[in-house]
Amino acid sequence: MFRTPRPRRSHRALGALAVSVTAAAVAAAGLLPADQAGAAAGSLRSLAEAKGIYFGTAIGQGDLDNTALTTVAGTQFGMLTPTNEMKWDSVEPSPGSFDFGPGDRIVAFGQAHSMKLRGHTLVWHNQLPSWVDKLPASQVQTAMRNHITTTATHYKGKLYAWDVVNELFNENGTFREDAFYRAMGTGYVADALRTARAADPGAKLYLNDYNIEGLNAKSDAMYNLAKSLKSQGVPLDGVGFQAHFVVGQVPSSLKANLERFTALGLEVAVTELDDRMQLPPDSAELAQQGRDYANVVTTCLAVKGCVGLSQWDVGDADSWIPGTFPGEGAGTMYDNNYRPKPAYYASVDALGGSTSNPSPSPTPTTTSTPTSTPTPKPTDGAACKVTAELNTWNTGLTENLTVTNTGSSTVDGWALSFALPGGQTVTGAWNATVGPAAGRLTARNLGYNGTIAPGGSVSFGFQATHTGNAGPAGQFSLNGVVCRAA
Ligand code: XIL
Repeated sequence: MFRTPRPRRSHRALGALAVSVTAAAVAAAGLLPADQAGAAAGSLRSLAEAKGIYFGTAIGQGDLDNTALTTVAGTQFGMLTPTNEMKWDSVEPSPGSFDFGPGDRIVAFGQAHSMKLRGHTLVWHNQLPSWVDKLPASQVQTAMRNHITTTATHYKGKLYAWDVVNELFNENGTFREDAFYRAMGTGYVADALRTARAADPGAKLYLNDYNIEGLNAKSDAMYNLAKSLKSQGVPLDGVGFQAHFVVGQVPSSLKANLERFTALGLEVAVTELDDRMQLPPDSAELAQQGRDYANVVTTCLAVKGCVGLSQWDVGDADSWIPGTFPGEGAGTMYDNNYRPKPAYYASVDALGGSTSNPSPSPTPTTTSTPTSTPTPKPTDGAACKVTAELNTWNTGLTENLTVTNTGSSTVDGWALSFALPGGQTVTGAWNATVGPAAGRLTARNLGYNGTIAPGGSVSFGFQATHTGNAGPAGQFSLNGVVCRAA
């Protein structure tokens, strides 16, 4: 059972709606087509890497079957952390009996997408099998060393970093009195770090915790420990700041706090970013969440020695938040259907993904048709139904279209033609290439979503500006056959 104490919740954001989504950012923002083996042009990953940092995510083995999730993970992020698969209870559920299968599957996904990997975590009071808690104190050090050595040796050479010790402090800055502390006192931290270094000299070794993002008693404790370990020559390379935030509550001292750690010669990373709110989310909260994400991204970029940031989980649908903080959620940059939220666009903006500061290849899909997209043959006619979801604001809109194959044969490669209301201009799209920007448009499938089985459906979406008419698209036809209205 996960028992992170719930941080105090403050007033909910009540500010006016101010979704700052620029067309330029959208044009540069993860608009597929994606290179499925690496970053999508203009993705979070490529924009971050162009600035010298990484942008990561976390997935579990159950996520690997979810195509929408893995598509986002594999194209938008350049660092991967297993959510549970390298924790002690997964790796060594009984003494000396190791299972690396689940962790290896996450590593394989990361490697297939040329992602960096973060090991999480070797020593933690949570998700610790009960046999460790029950050991006599005299046997805990041997068990800890054996666990670290075996696990870090298994993944040797594959990981960018290890969270060697996770969540070691109480909120008031005292050491958490877990099995390791009870057996070895504070010295277990140095012992764990030295053991990890011996097993995998190439991995950066981190201490990782939550509620240490701002200046406070808990971050003071981490700072004092890090300083002391460095002065003793203990192999510590970095401190991870989990950053499980509540919307509107990113600490104003984040930058100053990170900088005091980098001044010790350590690197710092935001390791588990999310930004939760009461469910259901409202648009003001989502806009505030965008500002929060932008703030964190901008801060990491501004701190020399901040090597990157990782979000915890991929989208709201797979986030750990609703299961741990009842009634709360919507903490990630992607909604329940893996569509980008204002926080995604704000992050892209903060990474410089705009025309005033162009990303390496910000080609809008509205003006390009990749040669890899198969052009459907005229015989690929299909019976179809299209449903639309529309979100509008004063000058813009996003529309998500779900195309269902209502015929009896499989559609293999699709082109959906449709009419945009006058005054609307498409500025970006996801899960399809869409063009031209106005009038009668055609959306074409990408490499991974060209097949629609009978009864199956695909979704794609676009963002547009409007001059007053924010109505939905209409007059759909799929591969030349008129679709019936939903
Ligand atoms: C969470 C996982 O995401 C959940 O699936 C699991 O049930 C509990 O742990 N801080 C951490 C992570 O360091 O390991 C936690 O992961 C989230 C909080």
